[in-house]
Amino acid sequence: MNTVQKVRIPLSIYVHCPWCIQKCPYCDFNSYRMDNELLEDAYLQALLEDFRHDLPYMQSRFVQSIYIGGGTPTLFSPQTIEKLLNEIYKRLPFAEEIEITIEANPATFDLEKLLALRKAGINRISLGVQSFQDSFLKTLKRVHSAEQAKQAIEMIHQAEFYNFNLDLMHGLPGQSVENAIYDLQTAFSFCPPHLSWYELTIEPDTYFYTHKPLLPDEDTLIQIQKVGRKLLSEQGYRRYEVSAYCLPGQECKHNLNYWTFGDYLGIGAGAHGKITLSTPSFRQLFANELAHCNDNHGILRYAKIRRPEEYIGHLSRHHSIDQNFYKGKSIVTREFIPLEFMMNALRLTNGVPTDLFPERTGIHITNIQDALTLAHHENYIEDFSKTLKTTPKGGQFLNQCLSFFTP
Ligand SMILES: C[S@@+](CC[C@H](N)C(=O)[O-])C[C@H]1O[C@@H](n2cnc3c(N)ncnc32)[C@H](O)[C@@H]1O
Ligand code: SF4
Repeated sequence: MNTVQKVRIPLSIYVHCPWCIQKCPYCDFNSYRMDNELLEDAYLQALLEDFRHDLPYMQSRFVQSIYIGGGTPTLFSPQTIEKLLNEIYKRLPFAEEIEITIEANPATFDLEKLLALRKAGINRISLGVQSFQDSFLKTLKRVHSAEQAKQAIEMIHQAEFYNFNLDLMHGLPGQSVENAIYDLQTAFSFCPPHLSWYELTIEPDTYFYTHKPLLPDEDTLIQIQKVGRKLLSEQGYRRYEVSAYCLPGQECKHNLNYWTFGDYLGIGAGAHGKITLSTPSFRQLFANELAHCNDNHGILRYAKIRRPEEYIGHLSRHHSIDQNFYKGKSIVTREFIPLEFMMNALRLTNGVPTDLFPERTGIHITNIQDALTLAHHENYIEDFSKTLKTTPKGGQFLNQCLSFFTP
């Protein structure tokens, strides 16, 4: 396989906080209903230990973004978030325009907490609203009301967070086109720079999977999407990924790093990381992992153990981390890297420059020339001389499109 000289790959950090007030019936994230009290101090100590252990992966790169997600990270005190960020600041160089996001749920913070989070360094809030109608919030078993969601957004404005996202869901049980549009219109009234507009999916291992709610029929779902997308566009929101919309220049840097095949550390219970083993010194550091591969390049992917109590227990018992600390740790070998790259990059509606492929994977574009040519002939991707981008057909049938890159 032809290889190319690598440039440094951008790096982000994801920190996972696994507790919620209660588990939503549609949610398959690694989140747990909290019992009475949070193990906040013990979890913070574990996060710090976990982070220190992942430091060698940094390779003195600048951190582009930090994303504190969950679960419901705003259940933690701002002091905990501040201690965590201070430790990261102390150890790592930051990009000048670093984006630091925290996911927040309405009814889990007040203005004082938001101001303290801003002081701690958070500069972006992602608020899980889902709907502005109480009847749907009730179906989704959300712990907040529509009024509390509105108050939460007002507080975000008052605390002068200019960069924030609202999560909304559509295709909800019993939802009409008008209901879905009402949620979007209400969101617009708060001028969010970024909107994530997800269609409800019924995931295995969720309450909704075993107790299937009655979803809107196919025609209604199509109509919601059509009318909603038109409205978003009229309001100036560009759809830049399957479910992500933003005003000009307000893309989420952290998510863009995933979709453009950047690297990331995953800190916390169940967190995933991706690290490119590109330089010789790096390959030497991970000689053990690479010993199992035919190929001594590759990408290291890992996931930490999922259950918070086990995660904390492991880190408090063993100061050096052993293999049991990982739910999975493996090398993505060269033959699978094109597929992984495309799975991310082709989610972006404008795609990515073709040059990004060799830059992020170390693999010359000629290695996937045949797959690209076939996918183009079958009208799944556009002309690929400058950009890797799906056609409308490829966007609609992304899995078929990706099958061209499956080894
Ligand atoms: C990491 S999750 C949770 C964020 C936050 N804990 C909350 O619930 O408000 C991010 C977003 O994914 C969306 N989401 C989660 N599960 C979903 C599902 N099954 N179908 C569609 N969207 C989903 C929700 O909009 C949610 O806010
Ligand atoms: S609050 Fe968010 S993370 Fe928690 S259970 Fe609900 S959807 Fe999942």
